[in-house]
Amino acid sequence: MDNFDRRILVTGGAGFIGSHVVRRLLKNYPNYLIVNADKLTYAGNLANLTDVQKLKNYRFEKIDIVNLQAVKEVFQKYHITDVIHLAAESHVDRSIEGPMEFVMTNVVGSVNLLQTAKDNWKSGDHVFHHVSTDEVYGSLGHTGLFTEKTSYDPRSPYSASKASSDHFVMAFYHTYNLPVKMSNCSNNYGSHHFPEKLIPLMIHNIQHKKPLPIYGKGDNIRDWLWVEDHASAIETIFHHGRIGESYNVGGLNEWTNIELVNYLCQLMDEKLGRNNGESASLITYVTDRAGHDKRYAIDASKLENELGWKPSITFEEGLSKTVDWFLSNQEWVDKVTSGSYKEYYEIMYGGR
Ligand code: NAD
Ligand code: TYD
Repeated sequence: MDNFDRRILVTGGAGFIGSHVVRRLLKNYPNYLIVNADKLTYAGNLANLTDVQKLKNYRFEKIDIVNLQAVKEVFQKYHITDVIHLAAESHVDRSIEGPMEFVMTNVVGSVNLLQTAKDNWKSGDHVFHHVSTDEVYGSLGHTGLFTEKTSYDPRSPYSASKASSDHFVMAFYHTYNLPVKMSNCSNNYGSHHFPEKLIPLMIHNIQHKKPLPIYGKGDNIRDWLWVEDHASAIETIFHHGRIGESYNVGGLNEWTNIELVNYLCQLMDEKLGRNNGESASLITYVTDRAGHDKRYAIDASKLENELGWKPSITFEEGLSKTVDWFLSNQEWVDKVTSGSYKEYYEIMYGGR
């Protein structure tokens, strides 16, 4: 273990974005030890990492970051040098149903990690990279973009809990000189996305000819980024971003929900050999989400100008790859939605 250049704790590495970050780091940096710490909630799934789980530089620890003692033990066991913190409750609709889980994981869990990093890192070269969202900035009108200087104005329990964790991250930097970096990204899509968020839910429902629920009028706007481009941005910021700074991540790729779902219907009609318009007939307008943010849009020019990062593919390419992945990984969808991945965990890790 001691021969590794860095020993990075990735929290939430069994989730959607976290699994892409873990995979990318394991493959690009065989000299880094990657310790994936995850509670395996409904959203966390070791089936997201089957292709890398046997790599020599990978470890998995099933922990709840709300449990301070468990966080401390993982830090000590692996002599953790860096943290990339993704573990969170992440679905806005669930936060409306029950905010307290969001306070516990997103706020208390984050402070547990910050406190433990501060207590362990007295000197040396360390990074605590906190992965956050553009939703902390609130909701835009028809024009304008979120920059790193936009005031925080969270409006859902989810975004309020993320905003709170962001403030704690910056408080630990200013108060204790903890070497933090932060990124605030727009909506992600791609493989291994739990089918409760808009794009994977629609792909699933189109495939199975189920209704496609559009909240309100479908005119809310989101700025979509391919998850592998988010993972590459995190890799870049983690290595080259300035300490104490936040970086916005996005693809200048705004779609209203209804435009997006119509495009997806057309794409899947082609891929599934259906008549044009067949899938769009499944679109069903439903009651709007409470407090539904109108528009998110990111200005990522700081990241591009300072660190040279840009998205690698267009939305059309990314969406096509994503649909192909879902259509050829039905087994994964069944596993994550049935709960049988918990049995899978026992089989894979039961004795460790
Ligand atoms: P996700 O819900 O798919 O995964 C979250 C992971 O965290 C899961 O593996 C879950 O088991 C784990 N987790 C939850 N509570 C935990 C706890 N108490 N202890 C340990 N592990 C716990 O989320 P995601 O979409 O991959 O998002 C990852 C991060 O990126 C989050 O911090 C989110 O706020 C942020 N983010 C997401 C998006 C997006 O579009 N999905 C965009 C910007 C930022
Ligand atoms: P979501 O994927 O939950 O991400 P977020 O709310 O964090 O941006 O939702 C994306 C958009 O799609 C959002 O405006 C809500 C809308 N939406 C629907 O219209 N129908 C749905 O079934 C879902 C899940 C979301």
